[in-house]
Amino acid sequence: MDVIEVIRAKRDGGELTPEQIDWVIGAYTRGEVAEEQMSALAMAVFLRGMGRAEVGRWTEAMLSSGDRLDFSDLARPTTDKHSTGGVGDKITLPLTPTVAACGAAVPQLSGRGLGHTGGTLDKLESIPGWRASLSTEEMRRVITETGGVICAAGTGLAPADRKLYALRDVTGTVESIPLISASIMSKKLAEGTGALVLDVKVGSGAFMKDAGSARELARTMVDIGNDHGVRTVALLTDMATPLGRQVGNALEVAEAVEVLSGGGPGDVVELTVALAREMLTAAGLTPGENGVKDPAQALRDGSALESWKQLVRAQGGDPDAPLPEAAERRVVLSPSSGVLTRLDAYQVGLAAWRLGAGRARKEDAVSFGAGVTLHAKPGEEVQAGEPLFTLHADEPERFDRAAQALEGAFDIGDAAEWRTRPLVIDRIS
Ligand code: URA
Repeated sequence: MDVIEVIRAKRDGGELTPEQIDWVIGAYTRGEVAEEQMSALAMAVFLRGMGRAEVGRWTEAMLSSGDRLDFSDLARPTTDKHSTGGVGDKITLPLTPTVAACGAAVPQLSGRGLGHTGGTLDKLESIPGWRASLSTEEMRRVITETGGVICAAGTGLAPADRKLYALRDVTGTVESIPLISASIMSKKLAEGTGALVLDVKVGSGAFMKDAGSARELARTMVDIGNDHGVRTVALLTDMATPLGRQVGNALEVAEAVEVLSGGGPGDVVELTVALAREMLTAAGLTPGENGVKDPAQALRDGSALESWKQLVRAQGGDPDAPLPEAAERRVVLSPSSGVLTRLDAYQVGLAAWRLGAGRARKEDAVSFGAGVTLHAKPGEEVQAGEPLFTLHADEPERFDRAAQALEGAFDIGDAAEWRTRPLVIDRIS
């Protein structure tokens, strides 16, 4: 097959054949298609798009480039969640043990954060002793013993995506709905889950800034999952403002433990319960029926917390050890009194990143204690001179730039200006 023909076909708006897709992904992974040729093809896909059959085949080809885990012999049905990423999005932490406490098994391969959104592994690594890298055998042992496992994806899963994602990152071709969908779904299908719930975020702190493109991304991924025999549904959820009151690694772990202990911020609890119910239902377990516990009950009765402790211990962590704290704190006071009518997710994420909670390059280390505590959430009253944010950092020289990111991040107004926004905007199945 000739790669130039494949590039020309897509450049001219044609539909790639299954044979062309299989060949180009395979040859690129083996190093037989040059990076500049694959960049041209990625740009052609970016500009021309792909149809349902093409994107499904592209996903299949990336999936087939590596290993595929198989948990079909577990006693429990498997179900997983993927979030497209947001600010303060610690939901995987309370969600995985909650779903495990309700009777399903969760094989969760997660990532590290890059840019203004945090990564689940960075958060969990703030727990003393906790290990993200597990062999396939260890993964199987942990999920069998505890009903859940959260770990780093091994290099053997979807290697084509690893290579292509790095190329897209430097060629302006990340923001393509078919390429994002195939990238995410090839990794999720490779982890061997039987059911999948996608949390597609919408708003300033998310990849997708408007509901239309988030809906299109959700539809494309749901179709890929279902076409591959994995029962897949998506929730479109709000990411205009951060989730919860803590943004940062150890800060978010502490907040997740509050939720698991039956407390915590209302939005984190609401989303955890909504996603857990979807995950159980997708796995064929109806919450509240036939002895299947409802997730809200698991959070109230201590079973989700017990499941969290087992999960953390099974990966070498000490769930009772004190979490790391940043060396320095600075409080930002409210400039006026009224109701907080806007708090921008992206700018809070940027502040947390500038404080050291995130990384600029893949190889950078993160500060576990760094981040932002939000003393008020949209809809709540604030008083002039009272704390609005607490900034946490190891180096005090980080505070000024973080505080600058927060300067235009909020509005304080009249109670009449405040409109509640739904957290779950839509459901796509
Ligand atoms: N996350 C992924 O895994 N892939 C993309 O293409 C974008 C976000």
